[in-house]
Amino acid sequence: MPQLPPPYTDLLSEVLITQDELQARIQELGAQISQDYAGQDLVLICILRGGVMFLTDLVRHISTPHMMDFMAVSSYGAGARESSGQVRITMDLSMDIAGRNVLLVEDIVDSGNTIASVLALLQARQPASLKVCSLLDKPELRQTEVSIDYTGFVIPTKFVFGYGLDLDEYYRNLPFIGVVDTAKYKPTE
Ligand code: PRP
Repeated sequence: MPQLPPPYTDLLSEVLITQDELQARIQELGAQISQDYAGQDLVLICILRGGVMFLTDLVRHISTPHMMDFMAVSSYGAGARESSGQVRITMDLSMDIAGRNVLLVEDIVDSGNTIASVLALLQARQPASLKVCSLLDKPELRQTEVSIDYTGFVIPTKFVFGYGLDLDEYYRNLPFIGVVDTAKYKPTE
């Protein structure tokens, strides 16, 4: 098992998805998206911050013309592990998506509250189509039903981090998805 860099060198209990597994699946997703959107315009919207690693790797496998935009919403407080169900936009898109094909790119769908709220906000702007691509789907504790059009991996209810997902804001740069050793982890307030 890899050694975590500081600051929490002993908090990795397992590697859930390796770098090779991530990259192979992302390549497949990119190929599928390229096929599905062939001949159509496409705007990929990344929900900051967790989705950014996934987006930047995914677009390298999308061969059809596309644009990118970014939005940030708040749902979790730092250190909290449960979604409040309340989502507000903290940074809006720079682009008008009316009449465009939009694909939302997320790192994880857990309760489903974030993506459901964002979908409702964006649907009101009348895109031509609106779909969801999430690297991870953690369905067991879903509170709001959402349909995910492109899923990287369905995962169990474990406290995961790495590859965009933070642990107290650290470790978004890890090339793999790890599981936190919850026996050793003390959440920050
Ligand atoms: C995470 C993740 C999703 C959301 C999923 O974001 O990136 O946006 O939680 O959880 P849900 O399905 O239970 O709503 P977070 O608020 O932790 O912000 P971050 O992306 O900046 O880390």
